[in-house]
Amino acid sequence: MSQPNGGTFDIVILGAGSGGYAAALRAAELNLSVALIDKAELGGTCLHRGCIPTKALLHAAEIADQTRESEQFGVKADLVGIDMAGVNAYKDGVVARLYKGLQGLLKQDKITLVQGAGKLVGKDTVEVDGKRYTGRNVILATGSYSRTIPGLEVDGKRVIASEHALKLDRVPSSAIVLGGGVIGVEFASVWKSFGADVTIIEALPRLVAAEDEEISKTVERAFRKRKINFKVGKPFEKVEHTDSGVRATIAGGETVEAEVLLVAVGRGPTTADLGYEQQGVTLDRGFVITNERLHTGVGNIYAVGDIVPGLQLAHRGFQQGIFVAEEIAGLKPAPIDEAGIPRVTYSDPEIASVGLTETKAKEQYGADKVSTYNYNLGGNGKSQILKTAGFVKLVRLNDGPVLGVHMVGARMGELVGEAQLIYNWEAFPEEVAQLVHAHPTQNEALGEAFLALSGKPLHAHS
Ligand code: NAI
Repeated sequence: MSQPNGGTFDIVILGAGSGGYAAALRAAELNLSVALIDKAELGGTCLHRGCIPTKALLHAAEIADQTRESEQFGVKADLVGIDMAGVNAYKDGVVARLYKGLQGLLKQDKITLVQGAGKLVGKDTVEVDGKRYTGRNVILATGSYSRTIPGLEVDGKRVIASEHALKLDRVPSSAIVLGGGVIGVEFASVWKSFGADVTIIEALPRLVAAEDEEISKTVERAFRKRKINFKVGKPFEKVEHTDSGVRATIAGGETVEAEVLLVAVGRGPTTADLGYEQQGVTLDRGFVITNERLHTGVGNIYAVGDIVPGLQLAHRGFQQGIFVAEEIAGLKPAPIDEAGIPRVTYSDPEIASVGLTETKAKEQYGADKVSTYNYNLGGNGKSQILKTAGFVKLVRLNDGPVLGVHMVGARMGELVGEAQLIYNWEAFPEEVAQLVHAHPTQNEALGEAFLALSGKPLHAHS
């Protein structure tokens, strides 16, 4: 039986998160007609359950710490407590304002918003509630979900995922964080600042294992100082419920008890039961396989965002969405260099990086072809004013461009803009060293690192 027609469009996009809505906006700018389909709110995980609300919590956490430490700056203030209702109202207000703005942006003649769960039922067709939307091109952008591990059931109360942690109406007295990756260290940081007793359990030998090893060491040292407990190199074995919360057992039989356990062991691609495989799209462990132009190899079907293997970051989704819209419009955009995507973890201390780690650069180019320089924030005036510790580490190809920039310390995330420009523009350290950095800024630490790497250090202690 034929289905009622939802219309024919230049592009049908399934999923209105960072990847999907960016593709819609760029396509509309290029005069292409779009059907943008989502079963939930426009903006997806990042806006409603990810980046934005988490960063609001982290900002509130920073204010709590600054209040606690105010005496060090000669300011007298007492931290009376954390009013979670107030914190949540602030956080929800930020999300609501951005959501309203996004709805305004997407309200355009060229974009038809379709609310409902879609399924790929043909190489050019998505069906939503019995209506068929046909696209000369289709973009799959269905995002990701919080994964768990076999045998560990997330009940949303004692064993929770990040979306539950964002909605807690109280600060837990204690928390176990399973996974010392990005979500794990960010929540551990928030909860500790809010006064909880926190223990991270990480299977790999170090926290934030995707980062340069020296970053992990500095974060671990800072966490020890902040009395955030962590057990690395120890896979989790099981969790039991107790009268007051949970008891986790880790390899070797050691146990940790707490009020809640946050599962932060990665995010899986949302691709099951959406008709992708039936239409011939190749999935690998649930991820959609594409070529470097984000084409699936089937019909005119593309994929963007967290369902495509690689960094699961909102700004990667934006960039991929823009790329595919331009590709469809025939603009032949340059493929995206995955290593050139900046990464920021907003914990205290903050981590920011772009490009290759020292280990990866040496693997790729040979140990004798790569040099590094580590500039300690101890020599940076603004960092001293802020009383933060950390470093800017540069990785370069000898007689060649910058291969990686790795930073840790307060507010380092804001420096990643310059770092990504340097990396993506394939700048040589000597070229960056000529450029003037304002004094006193933390940004200057980058400038100082480049001066030193070019053989003319200024405020650098060896
Ligand atoms: P992740 O992949 O960063 O970290 C998961 C960690 O869990 C890994 O270190 C892994 O070794 C560990 N793990 C896995 N199984 C384990 C076990 N059985 N026992 C102990 N440890 C175990 O994933 P995460 O932190 O859940 O984040 C998901 C995604 O969301 C990431 O890809 C991240 O890029 C993104 N995200 C980005 C943020 C940012 O850019 N600031 C913030 C939050 C999330």
